[in-house]
Amino acid sequence: MEDTTAKILSLIKRRGFVFPSSEIYGGFGGFFDFGPLGVELKNNIKKTWWRAMVQKRTDMVGLDSSIIMSPRIWEASGHTTEFSDPLSECKACHKRFRADHLMEKLRDAGELKKLGFTDEEVKDTADIDQMAKVLASAKCPDCQGELAAPRKFNLMFRTFVGPVEDNASLAYLRPETAQGIFASYKNILDTQRVKLPFGIAQIGKAFRNEITPGNFIFRSREFEQMEMEYFVKPGEDEKAFEYWTKERMRWYVEDLGLKEENLRFRPHRPDELAHYAKACVDVEYKFPWGWSEIEGIANRRDFDLGRHQQHSGTDLKYFDDSDKSSYVPFVIEPSCGVERLFFAVLCDSFEEIQGGRTQTTESVKEAETVLRFKNRLAPVKVGVLPLLKNKPDLVAKAKEVFDALKEYFVCKYDEAGTVGRRYRRLDEVGVPYAVTIDFDTLQNGDATVRDCDTMTQERIKISELVNYLREKIGQ
Ligand code: GAP
Repeated sequence: MEDTTAKILSLIKRRGFVFPSSEIYGGFGGFFDFGPLGVELKNNIKKTWWRAMVQKRTDMVGLDSSIIMSPRIWEASGHTTEFSDPLSECKACHKRFRADHLMEKLRDAGELKKLGFTDEEVKDTADIDQMAKVLASAKCPDCQGELAAPRKFNLMFRTFVGPVEDNASLAYLRPETAQGIFASYKNILDTQRVKLPFGIAQIGKAFRNEITPGNFIFRSREFEQMEMEYFVKPGEDEKAFEYWTKERMRWYVEDLGLKEENLRFRPHRPDELAHYAKACVDVEYKFPWGWSEIEGIANRRDFDLGRHQQHSGTDLKYFDDSDKSSYVPFVIEPSCGVERLFFAVLCDSFEEIQGGRTQTTESVKEAETVLRFKNRLAPVKVGVLPLLKNKPDLVAKAKEVFDALKEYFVCKYDEAGTVGRRYRRLDEVGVPYAVTIDFDTLQNGDATVRDCDTMTQERIKISELVNYLREKIGQ
């Protein structure tokens, strides 16, 4: 499994999907750059979400709120006091750990008993007092040094607005996009003629000063969220929660094209629910290293709007025309991370074919790696190749075809190496179609279109190419 992860990571870097940020300076932990193919894939994932969540619905509006907002928002939401992870530092090597992760590792390895604690004594591995007791007897996993008592570490990045750096100018980079939605709720209500139930959706950057970023882009310090807050009448929240869990799973399978067997729900236990949540279920994906969260779907009750009403003094109640009542709506929130979906899509599409499958003039003995994206997600849709690079007529025709196709699809022109090699390069990054211009093209006006998934080939008139590819690609 680790081997598969390593192969996927190697492909991701080698072909320019993702690079470590600031790599020429040795990297910068928890930050990443998305390369030419990565940015296309990321945009396609976001487009698929936006299309399903906003544009195809009549009960949804979109929003793009600011990243830095009044710090009072984070006081009201509870983030200044509650948004923290327990941090434990080794007194000898000064390495910092997530104390709750250390506890889980000790529990899973059966170490708690060895340290003299019964299961009953350490029922809740997230309890900070329990952690302090256990970690006082445990050792640093790296150097066996003594561990300091865990303390709460707030994950919000701080900054200062204006020229003076003092408490009055303190602000935060948003750790979730959701609060921007709650803060704009009244503006939407006042300007958009929306009626309950309705939702506000947003895609944007979020920042968290994670103690231990890791698993590549899975836990990073800067990432993007796709979040939607669905406002309903209290009492109708449980039905809406059930609807959204089903709808989100449908989206993963039908729209994003992830394999159903690689997805599952994991309901939260009462002791792990966030401070605002009445219920929460995670959507988990089966990554090569195991099941991990890609999305959380929460019933946030009237917590956020209630708190913002209280802290801002602004009336955020909804007047319900149907029964003339007024209330603060309840909220159902599906929230997912773009980078985690990006990684899941790559893992789901990755395939290794032993012995290779592409016919080339050179023998290909080593295993071939291919990406099989759903067409709408493919970063590049069509490769355009002249059969030979040293024949000016072929090259001119291929460039003409490339210029015509690039008006409609993201295309890649490639003339370097044998056609077999070029097919292989396209397969490796999941380009679904390749158009090859050969000598017959010059005579008959048709070209070979290769379906990279099935490897079947068809001759198609150049004048028909756009329509043919549109139908195949589905755009
Ligand atoms: N508004 C609710 C909220 O932010 P969350 O469970 O903290 O809930 C939602 O985050 C999603 O955001 C997660 O399911 C995950 O996909 C993504 N996410 C959270 N922290 C992340 C991180 N450090 N790196 C990458 N993605 C992250």
